[in-house]
Amino acid sequence: MARDPGRVLIFDTTLRDGEQSPGASLNLEEKLAIAQQLSRLGVDIIEAGFPFASPGDFNAVQRIAQTVGTAEGPVICGLARAAKGDIKACADAVAPAAHRRIHTFIATSDIHLEHKLRKSRAEVLSIAGEMVAYARSLVDDVEFSCEDAGRSDPEFMYQVIEVAIAAGATTINIPDTVGYTTPSEFGALIDGINRHVPNIDQAVISVHGHNDLGLAVANFLEAVKNGARQLECTINGIGERAGNASLEELVMAMHVRRSYFNPFLGRDVSSSEPLTGIRTEEIYKTSRLVSNLTGMAVQPNKAIVGANAFAHESGIHQDGVLKNRLTYEIIDARTIGLADNRISLGKLSGRSAFRARLEELGYNLEREDLDDAFARFKELADRKREISDRDLEAIVSEQVQQQDQATYSLKLVQVSTGTSLQPTATVTLLNSEGAELTEAAIGTGPVDAVCQALNQLAQVPNELVEFSVKSVTEGIDAMGEVTIRLRADGVLYSGHAADTDIVVASAQAFVNALNRLVAGSQHSPLHPQKAPLPVGEMAPADRPRL
Ligand code: KIV
Ligand code: ZN
Repeated sequence: MARDPGRVLIFDTTLRDGEQSPGASLNLEEKLAIAQQLSRLGVDIIEAGFPFASPGDFNAVQRIAQTVGTAEGPVICGLARAAKGDIKACADAVAPAAHRRIHTFIATSDIHLEHKLRKSRAEVLSIAGEMVAYARSLVDDVEFSCEDAGRSDPEFMYQVIEVAIAAGATTINIPDTVGYTTPSEFGALIDGINRHVPNIDQAVISVHGHNDLGLAVANFLEAVKNGARQLECTINGIGERAGNASLEELVMAMHVRRSYFNPFLGRDVSSSEPLTGIRTEEIYKTSRLVSNLTGMAVQPNKAIVGANAFAHESGIHQDGVLKNRLTYEIIDARTIGLADNRISLGKLSGRSAFRARLEELGYNLEREDLDDAFARFKELADRKREISDRDLEAIVSEQVQQQDQATYSLKLVQVSTGTSLQPTATVTLLNSEGAELTEAAIGTGPVDAVCQALNQLAQVPNELVEFSVKSVTEGIDAMGEVTIRLRADGVLYSGHAADTDIVVASAQAFVNALNRLVAGSQHSPLHPQKAPLPVGEMAPADRPRL
């Protein structure tokens, strides 16, 4: 990607680092839906996954490269450790994209060198040069990251960066892997790189950071002031541990405070030219899509996209906003595409109106999925007078979540419960061969009884670690949205579903989580191309988590 000191590139890693949030794993359809929406949002680069990690990851990156990586579309990037097997798998996976990138990394902090890599500085220096050169022999666009840059000795890092650029890296990424630095330190680190790496003018400086101390966005903004021109971020700030820097916060900070940032990008203070290529009106939709598909709720007080971000509770504030909204609002909600929760469709709405509204919400369903979702919509419309955008999102995100090769589908749920009854549930599942399996169980309540019965049928050991119900809209006929997280072998699997009957929603959410668990535990542990790890970067694992 060409260097442009007057523009900040947005590198979205929701599908790679974001998907590393515990329990946020996504199936192929979900990844494609998110990638398509990221492209509509206008991100410059999509980091679509870590192709060497598993065949599933490889396939997802390849499909995204095929479908979203068009000539007008974003760069499609894959992550690879500084090892030949990783880099080759990554090159193969991104190959179908018109614009493709390999992002390779190795740690540079002494703590990682000593305890994780067990390598000397000299060895890391030579691996960085060799692996960047190898990546560059496969693609023209190579990003190199100094993992744990925030805790690395800057002098050593300058040497590694110089070698990586000399070997062909076109982007140099500086990750604050453990979210340790403060804004002024991080800004100074970027400034130091600019001043001490002799060939830095041949690469774009990028930043990547985690939110362990809640400083990721502040750190990035300071980095921009010191010359960083690519920001690696995720929708809703999801990601490893406390998450990554949030895309919507970064973009809106630079949008709302344009005149403050303009001079740092060599522009006139009053320039109204956007600093990024993001279509801000797509932000809210993208946030909802990611939250629905990952099952990771957005906290109500989250900046920009939280439910309360534009709500004024106190009388003084309400009075001020009524007189002039500028008194208490710095962003017009429409800038991020936040329209009212529209009552969009009703009982008489047809298939094409349904499809058109879904497309506006960011969902493009294949014919069969659309038929199923439309049938669900009609059922709901019989029970609920007005169908809002939130209802549609609940229906369709559940549809996307159902996997093509799901092991189980829910056929029947029946419960009896009450003050003088022992809660009892009967459930029937269809397995992948179409056979009906029925089981009954008692529980402490109807939902517990349903879960017990489902577990008896599926016979896959798991622990229920989270169960939450929230109402999709207001009113007595509102749909209840249930999110369930199951833990098996230390890995979290989430499932969610919505229905006007919360027992049915709970059963469906449990089945969705079980299907992910079964699919996850059947994952072939090794990618066909997987070779012994040459750099000892990480312990071999079914799915390396960074
Ligand atoms: O946090 C990190 O250091 C990463 C790198 C792989 C860029 O995710
Ligand atoms: Zn990271």
